[in-house]
Amino acid sequence: MDILYTALKHAHSGLRWVVLILLVAAIVNAFGKRSGGTVYPAKNKLGLFALISVHVQLLLGLVLYLFLSPLANFEGDIMGNAVTRFYTVEHLVGMVIGIVLVTMGYSKAKRQAGINKGWKTIGVFYLIGLIVILASIPWPFRNLGAGWF
Ligand code: HEM
Repeated sequence: MDILYTALKHAHSGLRWVVLILLVAAIVNAFGKRSGGTVYPAKNKLGLFALISVHVQLLLGLVLYLFLSPLANFEGDIMGNAVTRFYTVEHLVGMVIGIVLVTMGYSKAKRQAGINKGWKTIGVFYLIGLIVILASIPWPFRNLGAGWF
């Protein structure tokens, strides 16, 4: 189990950069296409890949959370310890909100094809999702024991 834990933890940690890059690229692309007058849905592969990447993080995160990580803990004084509070409550709640926003943006945009509002919807929902995700990452300077990769 130790090997699986280490492997999934590193995959989850490294994948954050893929998520962040894809979200930024999808947002820039959406606002660019919107001001360029491109009709939605033109090919929105970036939006789709960003959506997939956050869902992969959700799956990896759930496995870590429910089975492997000693940091997501349901015993003892969870709220009194900054690290267990962060991983057991704050990281989970923040990330789920961020992922729901991205998912809502993608599916709402699909239904707006007729009125061509899709690019704006993608841009706005993904941007708010990105801000929530950025705020919920255990960056090294937050002293939660996590690294850059
Ligand atoms: C876009 C979504 C997410 C991103 C970018 C993200 C990012 C991260 C990062 C950077 C770490 C630190 C890894 C390290 O270096 O130690 C981490 C840890 C963790 N994440 Fe996430 N996460 C996301 C979603 C989730 C979700 C939805 C869950 C739970 C369902 C979750 C559960 C965990 C757990 C339990 C840890 C602690 C692993 C350990 O060190 O034992 N994550 N996450």
